[in-house]
Amino acid sequence: MIVLGIESSCDETAAAIVNNNKQILSNIIYSQIKEHAITGGVVPEVAARSHLTAMYHCIQEALAVANLSINDIDAFAATSGPGLIGGLLVGINTAQSLALATNKPFIAVHHLEGHLLTSRLLENIKFPFLALLISGGHSQFVAVENINQYKIIGTTLDDAVGEAFDKTARLLGLPYPGGKYIEKQAKLGDPSIFKFNAPLLNTKDANFSFSGLKTSVRNTVDKLILKQGKLDQSNINDIAAAFEHTVIKILSQKMQFAIKQFRQNYKELNHVVVSGGVAANLNIRAALKEIINNENANFFAPPLDLCGDNAAMIAWSGLERLQLGLTDSLNIKPNPNWQLNNL
Ligand code: KG4
Ligand code: ZN
Repeated sequence: MIVLGIESSCDETAAAIVNNNKQILSNIIYSQIKEHAITGGVVPEVAARSHLTAMYHCIQEALAVANLSINDIDAFAATSGPGLIGGLLVGINTAQSLALATNKPFIAVHHLEGHLLTSRLLENIKFPFLALLISGGHSQFVAVENINQYKIIGTTLDDAVGEAFDKTARLLGLPYPGGKYIEKQAKLGDPSIFKFNAPLLNTKDANFSFSGLKTSVRNTVDKLILKQGKLDQSNINDIAAAFEHTVIKILSQKMQFAIKQFRQNYKELNHVVVSGGVAANLNIRAALKEIINNENANFFAPPLDLCGDNAAMIAWSGLERLQLGLTDSLNIKPNPNWQLNNL
């Protein structure tokens, strides 16, 4: 069984082909980062136009790398939400057209399901498992009971953790998207110079709040600028280090609550999966791995290139759905606000 997946919900145009032997035959990503770096964030109209221009080439390349023709594909999957409506329309219309032309099934995939199930493409992970999704748009603990059965056991009440990284980077004058630049500067800084708020740290649940942390960074930056005229390099490094340290403190504490909550509802916890763009951060990975192992569970995070947005995760979710006969109508429309617990 061979599935072609398409991802276009935000600022990557991606196409990938996977098979039921868990082989990734191709995984092509055209990033729009250069276009959005000019504005310091994603402009939806610019993103939609760029998806339209890139999509055809991206699919051609995915087929060429896999050495397949369009007729070798058994089903076409596309991210159908959540995300920016323009990009979703491009992806879903392309997948539906290919399905119609080749008389093969179409599968609508939830973007977060893609992130959640990637772990099963890469490792033998059985249901149920606990997942922490940390990306630019989402911060959630999910009990993954089965395909189509997801229970959210903790979520952000305001900003996503990746958003907090990006906004903090912007305050520090670092490029967009800022997560990897914060990580780089944090390595050079001292995390004990500045102290930032860690909202909801001690509430006895697995919910997060990151907007107060960002405000706390802004207040510090404003004070330094008032005093010195501008931030110097050591300020930038120390703020990045203290910010990353605070995020790790919050994620670690909440991971412990989430594990406790998971264990109250399910007999066994074998694997905890950490996924999404922020899971590319090596200090965050190391801290979470330690907590999870101390709780006698196995830590799993996808390799760096499969942590962020990609289409292999969409093709794989499509394949898992196809195996269960879960295909979708060609009339399905994208849903920009699609909720994970409402598949
Ligand atoms: O999953 P993803 O590629 O896209 C979304 O679905 O949002 O995640 C992108 C987010 C951005 O906020 C980016 O700054 C963050 O992941 N990110 C990182 C790192 N690499 C990417 N955050 C912290 N450390 C990193 N190394
Ligand atoms: Zn994502």
